[in-house]
Amino acid sequence: MNVLITGVSKGLGFKIAELVLQKGGTVYGISRSKTEELNELILQYPEKLKWLRYDLADSEKIKPLVFKDWIGVNTPIQGFVNNAAMAYDDIVTNLNLESLENMYRVNVFAPMMLTKFVIRQMLLHQIKGSIVHLSSVSVHTGYKGLSMYASTKGALEAFSKNTAREWGEKGIRSNCLVSGFMETEMSSTLSEDQKNRIYKRTSTKQPVDVNSVAETILFLLSDDAKSITGQNIHVDNGTI
Ligand SMILES: NC(=O)c1ccc[n+]([C@@H]2O[C@H](COP(=O)([O-])OP(=O)(O)OC[C@H]3O[C@@H](n4cnc5c(N)ncnc54)[C@H](OP(=O)(O)O)[C@@H]3O)[C@@H](O)[C@H]2O)c1
Repeated sequence: MNVLITGVSKGLGFKIAELVLQKGGTVYGISRSKTEELNELILQYPEKLKWLRYDLADSEKIKPLVFKDWIGVNTPIQGFVNNAAMAYDDIVTNLNLESLENMYRVNVFAPMMLTKFVIRQMLLHQIKGSIVHLSSVSVHTGYKGLSMYASTKGALEAFSKNTAREWGEKGIRSNCLVSGFMETEMSSTLSEDQKNRIYKRTSTKQPVDVNSVAETILFLLSDDAKSITGQNIHVDNGTI
C-alpha cells in the first residue's frame, strides 16, 4: 500500500507514517523540516519511506514537483492522509487577512489540490483508494480564539463529504478524522489553565491519545473500512 501523508516530521503525521511502515506499507511523506525522529525513521526504512521537503503554502507547484517529479504518474496511490496544518489562533476582532490567507493556503487550498491529483492517480490506476482529512472538534463545539482555524477544518469537512459523493461510484472513499486535543507541538503554546479548560469539556478529562487517532486513520485507510465514506469520525475523548 502506497500512502501519501502530509506533515510527517512530527506529531500525529509522524505516528501515522510509523504505523503504515510497521504494517509493510510505503510512505510518501511531505514536510518542510527533517526532524531527528524523521531522520531515524528514514534510516530504518530507507526503501519504504520517501520524503519530500515541500512547503504546502505553495500550492502552485503541487502538480510538477509532487506528482510529476517525485511520486511519478506510474506510482499507484492507495491512500492519502491530509494531516499537515497550521493554527492561526486569535479572537475575531484581531483578524489579520494575510495570516488568514496563509493558513487557508496550507490547511485548505493545498489539501484540495493534493486531493485533485491523488484522485486522478487513483483513477489512472483503477484503485479503490481512501482519503482521510484531519479535522478538529473545534468545528463542532467551538472554542474561544479558534474561529479562523476551525473554519479551515469546516471547509475540509464539506469538501470531504462532497468528494465522497462525487467519487464513491469509482470506489474512492473520503472521510474526516475529527480529533480532540492532542499534546503535540501544535498545542504546545497553550497554558496549563487553557489545557485544563479543554480537558474539562471531554468525558475522560484527558488529552486525546495520538496513537488512538493514528490507529483509527489506519483503519479508515484499510479495506476493513470499505463501507465507510463521507463521514466525520470523532476521536475526541467524548467532547461536548
Ligand atoms: N494537536 C491537536 O490538539 C489537534 C487537534 C485537532 C486536530 N488537529 C489536527 O491534526 C493534524 C496534525 O496536528 P499535530 O498536532 O500533529 O500538529 P504539529 O505537531 O504542529 O505537526 C504539523 C505537521 O504539519 C507540517 N506542516 C505544517 N505546515 C506545513 C507546511 N506549510 N508545509 C508542509 N508541512 C507543514 C509540520 O511539518 P514542518 O513544520 O516540518 O513543515 C508537521 O509535520 C493537523 O491537521 C491539526 O490541525 C490537531
